[in-house]
Amino acid sequence: MGYVPSKIIHLISLAVLFLSFGMILAATLQTNPGKLRKAGFILHGISWLTLFLSAFGLVSALGMHAAFPKWASVKTVIWVALGLSVLLLAKRPKLSGITMLLISGLGVAAIWLAVAKPAL
Ligand code: HEM
Repeated sequence: MGYVPSKIIHLISLAVLFLSFGMILAATLQTNPGKLRKAGFILHGISWLTLFLSAFGLVSALGMHAAFPKWASVKTVIWVALGLSVLLLAKRPKLSGITMLLISGLGVAAIWLAVAKPAL
């Protein structure tokens, strides 16, 4: 896939991923969280996967395979952490304040890495 379609999918996935975190968080506050929680998990899974697929569409379009930069490796670790943090949010609702801070911090770091591309 080309650069522009990959980037659009990357950014939409990012928006939906954070929306899904909000849905799961909101579900932890409801007495009957069934549908919202389920929809949140489904959206999280789909957007997490499309974030990854579009990331590697971008990597390929930008010819970054040969010398994969460290900032992109760190983003891959952040992507894994964003996948795991949904479990924390769902299974430990009492920690949801800290978990949301952690998730937001991971998002800020990944966006900074993508825009600033620091030489790590
Ligand atoms: C699997 C891990 C990831 C990889 C390998 C990756 C890689 C990339 C690449 C190659 C670009 C294009 C940079 C350019 O246009 O010059 C990009 C853009 C971007 N990524 Fe990722 N990404 C990953 C995950 C994430 C995550 C988890 C987030 C946020 C939570 C994120 C946020 C962004 C943003 C906001 C941009 C646009 C930057 C800009 O337009 O300047 N990415 N990413």
